[in-house]
Amino acid sequence: MSSKDKEKWNHRYEVPEYITGKEPVEWLKDHSGLLKGKGSALDIASGEGRNAVFAAENGYQTLAIDISTTGLEKARALADEKGVSIETQLVDLDNWKIEQNAFDLILCFNFLDRRIFPTIKSALKPGGLIFYETFTIDYLKYSSFKREWVLEHNELLDAFRELHILGYREVDTNGKAFASLIAIK
Ligand SMILES: C[S@@+](CC[C@H](N)C(=O)[O-])C[C@H]1O[C@@H](n2cnc3c(N)ncnc32)[C@H](O)[C@@H]1O
Repeated sequence: MSSKDKEKWNHRYEVPEYITGKEPVEWLKDHSGLLKGKGSALDIASGEGRNAVFAAENGYQTLAIDISTTGLEKARALADEKGVSIETQLVDLDNWKIEQNAFDLILCFNFLDRRIFPTIKSALKPGGLIFYETFTIDYLKYSSFKREWVLEHNELLDAFRELHILGYREVDTNGKAFASLIAIK
């Protein structure tokens, strides 16, 4: 399964342009006032690095993890272009282990594997922030996405309820449908 994912994403990213763009997702950019500007950040399934690079630009020592070598190469190139540095690590989230209480900031955008929710929460330091945004079930009206890749209504809210939720929304408009969350541990 994962080697197929790796091939698929490597192939997708093998174009000179940044298919998801170079700017961070709006949910992160619009709430960047919450970022403390120091400490360690982790971007999970970081793709071509737009959000990891934004964290680095905001003062975090940032680790970007993804299964795609091409994505990680583009992430490093984007960091160079923006004059910051990030660390990258080739990680298969199907078999993922990470230190507990290690990160001040965790980002996860446009990726869903429910099995890693407990790991994400334990990897966050007390007082650390998480930003999460991904597709909801409403997105199936617009795309032939797999059912397992979309959140149920309120699922993200329920999954992180033991943290202090600072922001949550569900959006379904103009062919896009996703949930966004910000929480503090
Ligand atoms: C839709 S992209 C999102 C990229 C990035 N978060 C963003 O929003 O720009 C999904 C990412 O998940 C990564 N991915 C898929 N399966 C993975 C796995 N098993 N382990 C690690 N990364 C994986 C892909 O390589 C891809 O970069």
